[in-house]
Amino acid sequence: MMSTLESLRCSIIHLPRIGDYRGNLSFIEGGRHIPFDIRRVYYIYDVPAGESRGGHAHRQVHQVMLALSGSFDILLDNGIEKTKITLNTPYIGLYIPNLVWREIVNFSTGAVLMVLASEYYDENDYIRDYREFRNSVL
Ligand code: TYD
Repeated sequence: MMSTLESLRCSIIHLPRIGDYRGNLSFIEGGRHIPFDIRRVYYIYDVPAGESRGGHAHRQVHQVMLALSGSFDILLDNGIEKTKITLNTPYIGLYIPNLVWREIVNFSTGAVLMVLASEYYDENDYIRDYREFRNSVL
């Protein structure tokens, strides 16, 4: 069933953009723009054509994803409802709470995906098996 971002508890975050003849500048301030304390930042780049990333959910971690460059599609799934969003604008982020399955596909050449995360990396926080994910949310 296709659904809305809101019903998946996801939301769009508009970051400031300051533009002049020299180009654009955006910024992210902890406690102001992001609905959690940022513990970790990682970024994905040089994704070969046709490859996908993600394919998991997090037990506790909340994230915000941004396309710093290029574009990609994010498929979101809460176990019942699904939706898809294209990120292609450096000042527009996608907030994804815990227990949402995500897959990132259709990376353009040169795309850079930056992720802000609420916790340090911990493999135990990952649900990488879709059936286990469905069972844990239903
Ligand atoms: P993986 O979860 O497969 O990446 P994606 O979510 O993009 O599909 O992670 C790839 C590898 O990187 C895996 O061995 C775990 C490691 N990793 C870290 O060490 N720290 C991190 O913050 C992240 C996100 C991954």
